[in-house]
Amino acid sequence: MGFPVHRMRRLRRNEYLRSMVREHSLNVKDFIYPMFVVHGSGVKREIPSLKGNYHLSVDKIVEEARIVRDLGIPAVLLFGIPAKRDVAASEAYSTDGIVQQAVRALKDKVPELVVITDVCLCEYTEHGHCGIVENGYLQNDASLELIAKVACSHAEAGADIMAPAAMLDGQIKTMRENLDKNGFLNVALMAYSVKFASRLYDPFFKEGTQSHVTSGDKRSHQMDYSNATEALREIALDIEEGADIIMVKPAMFYLDIVYRVKEQFKVPLAVYNVSGEYAMVKAAAQVAKLDETALRHEILTGFKRAGANLIISYHAKEIAQSLMQK
Ligand code: PBG
Ligand code: ZN
Repeated sequence: MGFPVHRMRRLRRNEYLRSMVREHSLNVKDFIYPMFVVHGSGVKREIPSLKGNYHLSVDKIVEEARIVRDLGIPAVLLFGIPAKRDVAASEAYSTDGIVQQAVRALKDKVPELVVITDVCLCEYTEHGHCGIVENGYLQNDASLELIAKVACSHAEAGADIMAPAAMLDGQIKTMRENLDKNGFLNVALMAYSVKFASRLYDPFFKEGTQSHVTSGDKRSHQMDYSNATEALREIALDIEEGADIIMVKPAMFYLDIVYRVKEQFKVPLAVYNVSGEYAMVKAAAQVAKLDETALRHEILTGFKRAGANLIISYHAKEIAQSLMQK
């Protein structure tokens, strides 16, 4: 029994009708805002390829965090740009490391804002790899020991959630055990469970953290973008090891993965709408004159429709502003 009994357009006649049957919508509480912290004071420098996002010194990150909180965004994700890089990634787990300083300041001055830290070593090593490299190969278990040290130093500073980013085997288990052993039972883990080796991270490294792999690439640990079922195994392992929130990254080209993961696992699921995705939107708006506000809303709603519960995005402030105006 189809037409003329059924007319799909009946419920599309006006915005009030459409809003009654809308299945998914964006809420400011879905968002996590990434921030870049640098040494110094009084620094607020726009990142050219991530317009509207900044390198911020500790004093300025507090100011910016108040704005983020007042927009209703519940959480930030911190990345540090260290003063120096070395083979041991020593600033990554130093008490006075840049991220540790920022976490302490944020928990002191804007305590209600949830502080998430990215736990990886690539911003801190001189070769730009995510841990200890020997014979051109990222050493898994030796790097885990460093990751555990980073985790404890972030927890001591007061981080609420940690996001292990290296795609090392066993990183969730190692972090959970070390955090528990040191009394940090309530620090949650948001695992970068499925991180594809993607070109879409280029703006993040080139102008965000300014760390570069000096030789080789990250394909010995990040996932091959040709694979889908492998992603389900990665997720299952991370949940077993103790992940509280799982993540798929990047987001835009990977919504098939997001959908499959959400169908199979009933665990809070985050997507990372990465730097290259953000840069593409800005470029499309500038070069091809697409309506940026509408484009942003469509892309971000697509993430929710696919099954994401949380969205890490450089658009978080912009979208919070436009949701307020609705
Ligand atoms: C790892 C990390 C990366 C990003 C976030 N955390 C880079 C990588 O995994 O290679 C990329 C985020 C982006 O492109 O926006 N520290
Ligand atoms: Zn890394």
